[in-house]
Order: sequence, then structure tokens, then C-alpha cells
Amino acid sequence: MNRSELVSVARSLVSPGRGILAADESSGTIQRRFDTIKVPSTPESRRAYRELLFTTPGVEEFISGVILYDETIRQSTQDGTPFPKLLAQKGIVPGIKVDLGTKDLAGFPGEKITEGLDGLAKRLAEYREMGARFAKWRAVIGIGPGIPTLGCIKGNAHSLARYAAMCQDADLVPIVEPEVLMDGDHTIERCEEATEATLRIVYAELAEQRVFLEGSLLKPNMVLSGKSCPAQASVQDVATATVRCLRRTVPAAVPGIVFLSGGQGPVQATENLNAMNAMGPHPWELSFSYGRALQEPPLKVWRGEAANVSAAQRAYYHRAKCNGAARYGRYTAEMESEAAVTV
Ligand code: 13P
Repeated sequence: MNRSELVSVARSLVSPGRGILAADESSGTIQRRFDTIKVPSTPESRRAYRELLFTTPGVEEFISGVILYDETIRQSTQDGTPFPKLLAQKGIVPGIKVDLGTKDLAGFPGEKITEGLDGLAKRLAEYREMGARFAKWRAVIGIGPGIPTLGCIKGNAHSLARYAAMCQDADLVPIVEPEVLMDGDHTIERCEEATEATLRIVYAELAEQRVFLEGSLLKPNMVLSGKSCPAQASVQDVATATVRCLRRTVPAAVPGIVFLSGGQGPVQATENLNAMNAMGPHPWELSFSYGRALQEPPLKVWRGEAANVSAAQRAYYHRAKCNGAARYGRYTAEMESEAAVTV
């Protein structure tokens, strides 16, 4: 394990004013995203869409890293430059999703466990060879009657810790992602309780598996009201609850926390991150690793048409820029209307 390289990659991923684009949708997930714009999901349409994102001019000012999927890390631009090489040339660190998705957790109806530990060391070595410098593993914790259970949280935390240790052994920075889902009508208080319990157990497991925290990042959910809860917490309440929860559970040795968007709207995800950074300074960098919140606008503009590529790139650049400003707590609603003039 090269500790100084792990630290420098982890820190560069959360360097000031920048964050991560999650473009690691599995084939099933990207199919659902393409269905919304009525574009057939083929290896070529997926490649063309990812090329649009990765070649967006100037976006490296706000994007520090991109998470790729197994298919995508093996793909290239139309002129034959492999995606990991293209990103590295722009100063964007290539990363890779390495979990193999969620399955029903035996003995725990309604709960999930993430698979992918078997054979992982071999896959990590191959990805590193292909240019990846960090990895991601997503565990999913639901909220509902009687859930989450301790059994589910512990099982997932243990897998996350084993994955993280294996990544560091392969000189890849692990992004540890325990996502407490926003699906449901639960209150923000229940989300905070479930998130706090999850993070406490995750960090206990990481310690037990000897994970080097300075060379890792956390990718958590924000503490939010359930999507269908009638009482929706305000931006300030979300920021206060999220920061309180993280301060109670995440060691200061962790260089950065990169939130997932998890079904929040693009503007909402920017506003919440901005409010948290406006409350700083914090023990860790607070940044983003958004999938939908960065991609929804460009996806809608693109609609599979080559003629829309530039406009879609401007829509993506704009969201990246707004989130870059939110890294400093300097995002304003006016930034949205400025874009309406130029896009
Ligand atoms: P969302 O921001 O769309 O939640 O995606 C982030 C991610 O990588 C989930 O694993």
C-alpha cells in the first residue's frame, strides 16, 4: 500500500471548488435513464453520451474525478482515446464502481446486501492497470416499518470495510458509500437516526479492518425528509441535521465527504451542499459525487441527438459550476438565471 499516493489522490478529489461526477450507472440503471428521453440503450448510445459528458470544455475547473462503470472504462472517444486517458489528460481522476449491485439479504425481508467481494482483488488490479485511481462501493439501507435492522447495517458495513481494505492494498482510494434511501414517508428525524446508526457502525468496521482513513472518502446521503413525507424539511434544517450527524460519527482523519444526490432535484442538491459549506469550517471537505443531480439537465437537453451535444454540455457545465460554487458556500439563485440567458 502506497499511503502517500492514497492521501494525495483522496485530497485531490476534494480539492477546493471541485467535486465528482458519478457516471457509473450499471447497464440496467442507464437503460432506465435513457427510457425517460426515449433513447435506446446500446453500447454505442451509452458511449456517445459518456463522451459528451467527459469532453465538456472547461468542466475540469469544477470536476475533480469521474466514476466509471466496467463497460465505460473500456470505451473510447470517437477518435479512439480511451476514456480513462482522456480524463487524466484533463486533470480529472478516473474512478471505477466495483460492487456488483444489491441482492435480497437472506433472513431480513425488505433489506439488501451488496455483492462483489469474491474475486475483487483481481478486478481491482486490472482497473488500476487501466488507469483507475479510486473506486466506489454502494451499500443500501432502507427505512420502513422495523427497518433498518442492526443485522442489515452490520452486514453492509462489514462488506464496505473489506472492500475498502482491499482497495487500499491495490493502491486505489476507496469511496465508502452507505446510502440511507430517501424513499418513504419517514420524517427527517428518522433519517438522522438511521444515518447516525449506520455511520457509527461503518466507522467501527473500517477501524476493525485496518482501513487507512486519510486515504479514503465517505459518500453518504444527506439527512432529508422521506420523499413522500408531508412535512419537508427546509434547506437550513437539512444542512444542520446533516452536519450534526456527520460530526458525531465521521473521524476528522477522513479528508472529505462527497454526498450522493439520491433523488434530490439538481437545484435542491446544490442548495443543500451550499448551506452546509456556508456553516463551515468543518473537519473535512464537504463536496459532491452526484449522478442524477449533475446529469438530469444535460440528459434532457441531449435526447440522443448529435445536434444537441453542445447545448447538453453547457447544461452539464452549468450544474458543475453551481456545485463548484456550493463548495465554498457561494452559490446564489441568480446563478441559475444567468445560465438561462447563455444556454
Ligand atoms: P445519485 O447522485 O444519482 O444518487 O448517484 C450517485 C451514486 O453514485 C449512487 O451510487
